[in-house]
Amino acid sequence: MNGTLQEWLSGEIQGLKDAHLYKKPRILQSAAGGRVMMDGKSVINLSSNNYLGLANHPKVREAALAAIEKWGVGAGAVRWIGGTMSVHEELEERLASFKHTEAVLVFSGGFTANSGCIPAVVTKDDVIISDELNHASIIDGVRLSAASYRKSEGWVYEHKNMDQLEDCLKRADHFKKRMIITDGVFSMDGDIAPLPAIVELAEKYDAFVMVDDAHASGVLGKNGAGTASHFDLYGRVDIQLGTLSKALGVIGGYIAGSSSLKEWLINRGRPYLFSTAHPPMVAAALIAALDVMENDPEPMERLWSSSRKWKAMLHEAGFDTMGSETPITPILFGEEKAAQEAERLLWDEGVYALAIVYPTVGKGSARIRTMPNATHTEEDLADALAAFVRVRDRLGAGV
Ligand SMILES: Cc1ncc(COP(=O)(O)O)c(C=O)c1O
Repeated sequence: MNGTLQEWLSGEIQGLKDAHLYKKPRILQSAAGGRVMMDGKSVINLSSNNYLGLANHPKVREAALAAIEKWGVGAGAVRWIGGTMSVHEELEERLASFKHTEAVLVFSGGFTANSGCIPAVVTKDDVIISDELNHASIIDGVRLSAASYRKSEGWVYEHKNMDQLEDCLKRADHFKKRMIITDGVFSMDGDIAPLPAIVELAEKYDAFVMVDDAHASGVLGKNGAGTASHFDLYGRVDIQLGTLSKALGVIGGYIAGSSSLKEWLINRGRPYLFSTAHPPMVAAALIAALDVMENDPEPMERLWSSSRKWKAMLHEAGFDTMGSETPITPILFGEEKAAQEAERLLWDEGVYALAIVYPTVGKGSARIRTMPNATHTEEDLADALAAFVRVRDRLGAGV
């Protein structure tokens, strides 16, 4: 390798290690579930987005296997160049009906759906107004756009602060289009965006709304249809992003909205235009996952029952879950070092749950992020709680 590059990489990697920001993935050696084999050890997994257990659901597995028999394993091309199979079209029709929108366009991931859609729907004459806690994939999508969006120019409002959002909108009337973008469920805090207030302000100031429902899909609304459904805002949210990688258990992301939005993104959504279509087994597995979501209420009931139980147990034991309203349950440890040490001790106790620290979250609000899901048993949660209590006692930190 080029010596200058090698030297630079070594320095940067050391910098990450020194700043406690270095990441090394643990290796999962069993199928997704509440208890998994990871790095040779059986652990309770509290860090999975497999909310409904669909990643290893028998009907979803069966559909993927049948699709391999019928279609083989690859689509062979970018969607518009000849990679669109009827199973991709069927998935989009099913998703549109699930979301109550005219149309849906699927991208290879939620991240690419953001980076494909956001820059395509705004120009240099427009402004994007963002919640300060929006997900990294929204931020990257926004940065790829030609619109005005910078915090330093006043286009980022404090988390869920509707007065500040209104102030931004008042200052934005000289732009041709105004776009408000927010997570539906915030991924590090587990709280829900005040979508009814956002939509009202958008309507008042002639703005349009995009909501990223990555963590609301399969979690909130009718059968898990997301925040627009949760707040009964059908037809009033212009662009909804959903992920197919979390509650739906497979991989992918989609944009739900009008037919003309879909038509535009087919022509101007760069990750759609220049990246190969999903393998057909992915689309078939997702159709089966949707079948389960639409017809079997049990996984969602189990998700919410685990989630409520987990929060109640934590509160009773004196932990602070930071106002979370959804299965994403942060547990406050405060100092960065305390949260990182807690992660390590929890692992020793047989619990896999990641510390989230600055700069992902604010200084002094380091936390362990936990996500109970439909695959956890009462015993898993009781064992996990006992581990949290022991770790807190050992650390003498936390709350
Ligand atoms: C809010 C949000 N949006 C988008 C994504 C990206 O979705 P995907 O994992 O499907 O690429 C994530 C993933 O963590 C997310 O949390």
